[in-house]
Amino acid sequence: MKISNNMQKALNNQIALEANASNNYMAMASWCEVTGYEGGTSFFYAQSDEERTHMLKFIHYLNNLGISAVMPATKSPSSNFKSLESILKTALKNEQTVTTAIHKMVEISQKDKDHSTYAFLEWFVNEQVQEETKFETLIQKFELIGRDKIAINEIDKTLAVYATTFTADTTA
Ligand SMILES: [Fe+2]
Ligand SMILES: [Fe+2]
Repeated sequence: MKISNNMQKALNNQIALEANASNNYMAMASWCEVTGYEGGTSFFYAQSDEERTHMLKFIHYLNNLGISAVMPATKSPSSNFKSLESILKTALKNEQTVTTAIHKMVEISQKDKDHSTYAFLEWFVNEQVQEETKFETLIQKFELIGRDKIAINEIDKTLAVYATTFTADTTA
């Protein structure tokens, strides 16, 4: 089966986006680990692993079509983090960028009448809805609970609970 050059380029570009997402979350996890946010540490390391499984889905999709996936160069992630709230806001922004990229690929697949890539991308469309909702809900907690030390500790505990909800994705 053939897919257009335009689609190939977009899928390869997505590999880089997922790799950078994984790296960014690893940097956030590392910052949490040093700062003492135990929940944030578990949450962001798990989030980093999840982005890697997304990257693998794109690599396998291309390779299974006989198109060699391009391994991406990754950008150096920011390490200048200020607070748990600010990294969650950065995370939401990054997810919104990924959502836009996924939607653009869906549009290419529709234009190309590329039904298999369209079907493949459907999982990611749903995933991005969940990702954005997750970070929006977490950010909302600062308005609801507050920003003092006790409140932040509560939110860190919530992150610990979220971290347990990640399931190993064996389909990657
Ligand atoms: Fe992702
Ligand atoms: Fe994500």
